[in-house]
Amino acid sequence: MQPIIPPFPVTRLRRMRSSGALRDLAQEHRLSVKDLIWPIFITDVPGADVEVPSMPGVSRVTLEGAVRAAEMAAGLGIPAICLFPYTDPAVKTESCEIAWSPDNITNRVIRAIKAAVPEIAIMTDIALDPYNINGHDGLVVNGEIVNDETVEALVKMGLAQAEAGADILGPSDMMDGRIGALRSVLEANEHRNVTILSYAAKYASVFYGPFRDAVGASGALKGDKKTYQMNPGNSDEALRLVARDLSEGADMVMVKPGMPYLDVCRRVKEAFGVPTYAYQVSGEYAMLAGAIGNGWLKREGTILESLLAFRRAGCDGVLTYFAPEAARLLAEA
Ligand code: PBG
Repeated sequence: MQPIIPPFPVTRLRRMRSSGALRDLAQEHRLSVKDLIWPIFITDVPGADVEVPSMPGVSRVTLEGAVRAAEMAAGLGIPAICLFPYTDPAVKTESCEIAWSPDNITNRVIRAIKAAVPEIAIMTDIALDPYNINGHDGLVVNGEIVNDETVEALVKMGLAQAEAGADILGPSDMMDGRIGALRSVLEANEHRNVTILSYAAKYASVFYGPFRDAVGASGALKGDKKTYQMNPGNSDEALRLVARDLSEGADMVMVKPGMPYLDVCRRVKEAFGVPTYAYQVSGEYAMLAGAIGNGWLKREGTILESLLAFRRAGCDGVLTYFAPEAARLLAEA
């Protein structure tokens, strides 16, 4: 429905912008701390709990550091934290079996946070890249990233995370069939309320570079991820992926990266009306933090405007490395 717009001067669209109070009343979309999911990097490798050079202001943390981070996030009102492990290159294998060990760093951190900060939701990542000698999200056999064998491994990984106490499983691997396989193993093991936030429309993006430094996968990765992640030139395909993942049992869906793909967020929300999230990924963080650090962009406005854009595009929430800082800025506003 188009509003009726009588000609000037009856209509002066600036009237509703003429004071802060009127601007507040007329504001269509708002960002709240309740829309934020905070991704953190965890490690048990001695000496690795340092700042990630390509992500200024973001450091890997130990198990104790992760518990402190969860306490801080809960104190700020952030509803969920998301865990990404940095692993020792020496423990990476072709078969990635540490991915489903109950005692890997992710599963230990899940149990520690659950014990200390039960109110915060814990999201995990399901993909083999932190444990894979090839740096890929899937198992590599004769140079091919094999789908069905990878799904079997991912199901073991997801079940181990659910057993440790994860609330939200985040399959980020882009294999076909993994949502249905995960949902059936969760049901079969009485994890009825464990949710799945599917990285449904995940593009083969250059913007993941700093993340791969953070999890130690940059050096390992052989080739690219274009046989499983999406072609940046597509958006109809994103709708097919979302429809497929919802039909297999995803509770929520994600578009990733975020800012370069806001059109996809809008299309997904309009087509399905389901809980829709975007990931403001490491490269977006690096761009913004780099410009802020150089004094080229103003810190507060950059963080809040970049995040509000996701709400306007139709997202219910956003994964962002700026989460604690955004929470503080929103509390001050
Ligand atoms: C791993 C994974 C990636 C990200 C989240 N999970 C990297 C990749 O697919 O190579 C990227 C997150 C970011 O860049 O912040 N499957």
